[in-house]
Amino acid sequence: MKVVILYDPGAEDWTPEDVRSVMNAVGEIAVIFDAMGHEVRRLGVRHDMRWLQICRSADLVFNLCEGVHGKSEWEEHVVGTLEFAGVPFTGCGLWTLAACRRKAVANALLADAGLPIPRWTLAQGKIDDDFPLPAIVKPAAEDASAGIDRGSVVTDRRGLRARTAAMTEQFDEVLVQQYVPGREFNVGFVGTRTLAIAEIDFAGMPEGAWPILTHAAKWDRGSPEDLGSVPVCPANIPQRLAGALTRTAEAAWRVMQGTGYGRVDLRVDEQGQPWVLDVNPNPDLNDDAGLSRMAQTAGWDYAELVRRIAEVALREAQGAKAARELLAPSRRTRAPRTA
Ligand SMILES: Nc1ncnc2c1ncn2[C@@H]1O[C@H](COP(=O)(O)OP(=O)(O)O)[C@@H](O)[C@H]1O
Ligand SMILES: [Mg+2]
Repeated sequence: MKVVILYDPGAEDWTPEDVRSVMNAVGEIAVIFDAMGHEVRRLGVRHDMRWLQICRSADLVFNLCEGVHGKSEWEEHVVGTLEFAGVPFTGCGLWTLAACRRKAVANALLADAGLPIPRWTLAQGKIDDDFPLPAIVKPAAEDASAGIDRGSVVTDRRGLRARTAAMTEQFDEVLVQQYVPGREFNVGFVGTRTLAIAEIDFAGMPEGAWPILTHAAKWDRGSPEDLGSVPVCPANIPQRLAGALTRTAEAAWRVMQGTGYGRVDLRVDEQGQPWVLDVNPNPDLNDDAGLSRMAQTAGWDYAELVRRIAEVALREAQGAKAARELLAPSRRTRAPRTA
């Protein structure tokens, strides 16, 4: 089988660490398909569209693009192009990526379907005087905790005005959302399979910092916020709570028409009520990221996670039998016949 691993080669403002993080996943996934005997090509996406010709002759595109030239809004264009060209690709489709990237759109759809979404509003003009505080102010069309730091949670009207003013200078769309105190959980999906629940343990957060996943907590390895936010998988929670989280996350994943792989972020308030914070199609696939940790709990090593993600994509495109045949290792070492 011909596998193209598609990625964003980045932009001028990417740090060597940003590039390394992308290329690390590209490299590891390439090794996995190569070891199965498949023909692997690593391919950076650029606006010249040359990549499309190459993808058209592939049996599978393993899509690691989170944007083009660092712009996240192009992520769905890459996938839309592959969909239109009829090339099988891993992960979510155009509609899911586009809808989830706009948190206001996703929240409206999820709330309309009856899912528990903390009260939210787009920061356009004056925010209602009765908007509940504390609130978190976050970019409405970014992910990976972009724009989220220790000042993101505000506790009074003045703070709210100041923070929304500062954020709207930097980001086109800004969302204000009621802050949900309580434990934070992630539920991961691969195809139709729900993986083990993970919890973020914030017990070690520095004094005075809100227990939230800031940009530093996610990306600055060794920073106080990183060290203070420790993923625990499987989460140590009673079965009832696990059931409630799983049901809520599965419903959210269905509403957003999630396919391929994804992760839903939730919080649980003091009453034990889960709230959906974020639906993430195509979350980080690096071996040290959340989804890989959840997969390990299911007994899948990293190669098995990658293989399953490919299988889901191929099955969707060509049916289960073809997916099995395409994925079968082509350099099979046969056991010697004894009879
Ligand atoms: N309404 C909220 N209440 C409490 N914490 C929140 C809320 N929204 C976001 N957070 C915190 O901010 C982090 C990032 O927010 P999220 O909406 O998941 O954005 P991203 O797409 O950047 O991951 C969450 O993991 C959580 O810790
Ligand atoms: Mg999130």
